[in-house]
Amino acid sequence: MEIVILPDNQAIGSLGADAVEDLLRRKPDAVIGLATGSSPLAIYDELANRYSNDRLSFAKARGFTLDEYVGLPADHPESYRNVIDKDFVSRVDFAPGAVRGPDGLAQDIQAACAGYEEAIARAGGVDLQILGIGTDGHIGFNEPGSSLASRTRIKTLTRQTRIDNARFFGDVLDAVPTHCLTQGLATIMSARHVLLVATGAGKAEAVHHLVEGAVSAMWPGTILQHHPHVTVLLDGAAAGRLQLADYYRQTYLAKPAWQGI
Ligand code: GLP
Repeated sequence: MEIVILPDNQAIGSLGADAVEDLLRRKPDAVIGLATGSSPLAIYDELANRYSNDRLSFAKARGFTLDEYVGLPADHPESYRNVIDKDFVSRVDFAPGAVRGPDGLAQDIQAACAGYEEAIARAGGVDLQILGIGTDGHIGFNEPGSSLASRTRIKTLTRQTRIDNARFFGDVLDAVPTHCLTQGLATIMSARHVLLVATGAGKAEAVHHLVEGAVSAMWPGTILQHHPHVTVLLDGAAAGRLQLADYYRQTYLAKPAWQGI
């Protein structure tokens, strides 16, 4: 796991966008895993800027989102499909239908989840997964207790996650759906490069477990310690509880530029 502690969101956006830009140069038809939430917004903003400046194109790329609420109407502004369209997809030049997400309105949930796994596999797997982390250590919507070997499936949201997300539903806890579909931990682990972003002191405990804790289903993100290529982009506040923060800073400063992330 490479830990990069950066001064602010803008620096996170810039370095994250560099990783996507490098990938698209190497592989214009890359498969990108897209996360919703506030954490990746700086990366999406920077990518949209670079697209406007003709620096990169998503015309041949494909995307898969991580998760979706169950039962939200298709036109609900907080369905993750609509959120990712607004925050990123509609701002660049993905081809129509090139970005898919789990179907939270499917009649046959199990078939929809299996079909989603198949679609990712048919696309050749995810090259770069952009990821956030919940305050309870969830990635995607894999809440504490999730199987470390899980694939896309239905999950019940914890009360904490529903409280965290109530701000998107007019601060009304009951308006936050109780269930979701999410890529599993094993699905996320299949991505070739994982780029996880966390900012703010509210994430410091989750980051502490993610990077320096024991691998445990109680802190689902810790499974990433078994992944060969994970980059964690943090601001100082999110890195606030890391025992080896100075070491990570020195290591990154001394890293040859050609290595990239
Ligand atoms: C939600 C999403 C996750 C996201 C997490 C953190 O629960 N399902 O994918 O990582 O929230 O969100 P934020 O980045 O807004 O803190």
